[in-house]
Order: sequence, then C-alpha cells, then structure tokens
Amino acid sequence: MAVEGLQKEPQSILVTGGAGFIGTHTVLQLLKEGFRVSVIDNLDNSVEEAVDRVREIAGPELSRNLTFFLGDLRNKEDLEKIFSQTRFDAVIHFAGLKAVGESVAKPMLYYNNNLIGTLNLYEFMTKYGCKKMVFSSSATVYGQPEKIPCVEDFQLKAMNPYGRTKLFLEEIAQDVQKADQEWRIILLRYFNPIGAHESGRIGEDPKGIPNNLMPYIQQVAVGRLPVLNVYGHDYPTKDGSAIRDYIHVMDLADGHIAALRKLFTTEDIGCTAYNLGTGSGTSVLEMVAAFEKASGKKIPFKLCPRRPGDATAVYASTEKAHKELGWRAKYGTEEMCRDQWNWASNNPWGYRPPPQS
Ligand code: NAD
Ligand code: UFG
Repeated sequence: MAVEGLQKEPQSILVTGGAGFIGTHTVLQLLKEGFRVSVIDNLDNSVEEAVDRVREIAGPELSRNLTFFLGDLRNKEDLEKIFSQTRFDAVIHFAGLKAVGESVAKPMLYYNNNLIGTLNLYEFMTKYGCKKMVFSSSATVYGQPEKIPCVEDFQLKAMNPYGRTKLFLEEIAQDVQKADQEWRIILLRYFNPIGAHESGRIGEDPKGIPNNLMPYIQQVAVGRLPVLNVYGHDYPTKDGSAIRDYIHVMDLADGHIAALRKLFTTEDIGCTAYNLGTGSGTSVLEMVAAFEKASGKKIPFKLCPRRPGDATAVYASTEKAHKELGWRAKYGTEEMCRDQWNWASNNPWGYRPPPQS
C-alpha cells in the first residue's frame, strides 16, 4: 500500500550505447526528468569523457543518479554483472554499429555486433524480469520510399547490411513480443539526427572522415577538411540536391522520454513503431546555406555525382508520434545549425585534444 507523503523510488533505466551521440543527449534528459540511469558502453565509437560531460551539465545532484559500466553487449559476463547489481524498469537500446559503408565492407562485424548484442540483451532482460524496451531503429528501414512522407505501416526493406540489422531487429522485437505478451517494446525510427546540446559540451564526434552530411560540413567549417562533396545535383528536387528530414538531437532525446512514458502507462502497447522526424524535408544545399548563416563561415562545396544507394527525398509522417506519444519536434534547421556550430566551434576536434603540429 502506498503511504502518503512517502517519495516513490525513481524509475531505473539501462541505456546501452549511452556514451554515444544520441545516448549522451538522452541520458541528460533522463536525469533531468528524475530517472536513475545506468549506461553500458564498450566505447567502440565513443569516449568516457562524453559521459563525464553529461555529469558536468547535469550537476552534482542529478549526477548521483548516473552510473557508467564499461562493457560489451556481446559479453554475457558484462550483462550478468550489470543486471545482477541493479533492477531495471526499462532499457533504452542504442548500442550498435551504424556506418552504412563499413557495413557493406564488413557485414559479419555488423551482424555480430548488432544482432548478437541485442539477442544477449533480450536474454538478460528476460532472466531478470525487465520486459520494457525502447529500440533505436532508423528511417533506413523505409529503403528508397515510393511515397513520402514515410508512414509507419509502409512495407519495409533494407538496402545494405546495416539496414538489414535494423530490419531484422525490428522483426525479432515483434516475434519476442508476440511470444510473450508481457513485453512492451517501442521501435523508434529516427530520421537524420543533427545538432547538439545548447551548452556546446556534448555533440557528435565521429571517428575518421565523417560519412554523414552535418559532421562533414562541421569539419569543413573548422578547417579540418577542405571542401564538401555534394552528392547529387540532378535529383528531381527544387535545387537538384537530395532531401532529408533533419531532426535536432534534443528533440530526439525528448522523443525517448515520451516513448518511455508510453511504455510505463500502456499495458497493451505490444511492439509498436514510431517515426521521430520533423515531417519536413530540407535539401543538401539548403542545409549548407543554413549552416553558413548560423556559423558565419563559407562552406566551399563541389557538385559531385550521386552517392550509390541514396534516395531522392525522405521525410517522416509525424502524426502517429504526435497522436500517441504526445511528442512533436520543436526545433527547426536554424536552431539545429546554431547548436551544431556551437559544439563545433568550442570542440573543433570533438572530445580529443587538437593534434600536435
Ligand atoms: P554512436 O556510435 O554515437 O553510439 C552508439 C554507441 O554504442 C557507441 O558509444 C558505441 O561505443 C556503443 N556500442 C556499439 N556496440 C556496442 C556493444 N556491442 N556493446 C556496448 N556498446 C556498444 O551512434 P548514435 O548516432 O548515437 O546512434 C545510436 C543508435 O541509433 C544506433 O543504434 C544507430 O544505429 C541508431 N541510429 C542512428 C542514426 C544517426 O544518424 N545517428 C540514425 C538512425 C538510427
Ligand atoms: N551528403 C553529401 N555529402 C556528404 C555526406 C552526405 O552530399 O559528405 C548527402 C547525401 O548524399 C544525402 C544527404 O547528404 O543526400 C544526407 O546524407 P547522410 O549521410 O547525412 O544521411 P542519410 O540520409 O544518407 O543516412 C543517415 C544515416 C543512416 C540512417 C539514415 C536515416 O547514415 O544510417 O540517416 O536515419 F539510416
């Protein structure tokens, strides 16, 4: 029986991949919303400094609710250790490899990491009776959509091994939930996350040459790369460049809080997918112009042939997330570029010190 005046224990969330780009921003919002957070990350594509900076932004009091475990989802001993120490109310599962080109070159690495890691996670969640999960899926599961905006009930397809891991993992989630209705799973299909926390202390820090548009633009702006290659200028769009749905990473982070609340309050959620996008499309050249405006920097670019496998235009239908999660993106491209530049100009080499000249 609940005793009046007695504080309820905060809910405890395991965040896999919580040291990464989207993970750090989400962990910060979780702390601010009063959750207790444990992060497991193998630091394959991140650094512990990012978690330290989350602590710094959150402040000493909220940081007491954050624990970091260096561990790998493929290693069952790591999972046993973390699940036996803490009782979790839900898991947000970000951990995975995400570079499309690398997945084509090293498919086994992607299948091994993304699939085995997730199967192990289900095993330990089941063993320890935690059956609520928010899973990071991607707009990649829409392939080259025949119609836009992309609606959640479109037929899905994968274009490369990375996309296939997301597609398989969505299907595995459906099967797990069908077999045991105690599971509640939300699949979040992110469109193109960019931007950074307004403090400029955390942001995206890709290793090597960036594959994605905004990290590339950012490195041109700070002088790490000489020129942006614009892939495709003959698409049937207003300026010939391809169109995507860019979404501020803080909006995305808030989308995870909305999804968690939905899981906790909806017994019959089953396994349900939601798009997280803004619902509007922006071309590559429009993003270049928006970034130039926000940064005051000229971004030299070269018009190049299309990148194989790229779609002309992809953007989200946002109705379902708005109606059922009560969530909608707040920020536009101006704020996305402003915050991306704030992060870039304060951390031109990301979390690393500048190289010795
Ligand atoms: P990220 O690489 O910054 O973060 C992923 C984190 O997972 C990293 O810190 C990495 O070290 C960790 N990790 C990877 N494999 C692990 C393992 N086996 N055990 C423990 N930790 C492991 O990537 P992100 O941009 O934050 O993306 C998070 C999730 O969202 C990924 O699943 C990604 O596929 C998905 N997603 C990202 C985008 C995007 O454009 N950023 C778009 C759609 C979907
Ligand atoms: N682009 C350039 N130059 C670059 C990089 C990208 O012109 O240097 C163009 C691309 O050709 C594309 C657009 O910018 O037209 C966006 O490209 P990104 O690589 O930033 O993003 P994608 O939409 O291709 O894919 C990203 C992730 C996928 C994910 C998808 C949807 O890489 O993993 O968003 O979430 F599935």
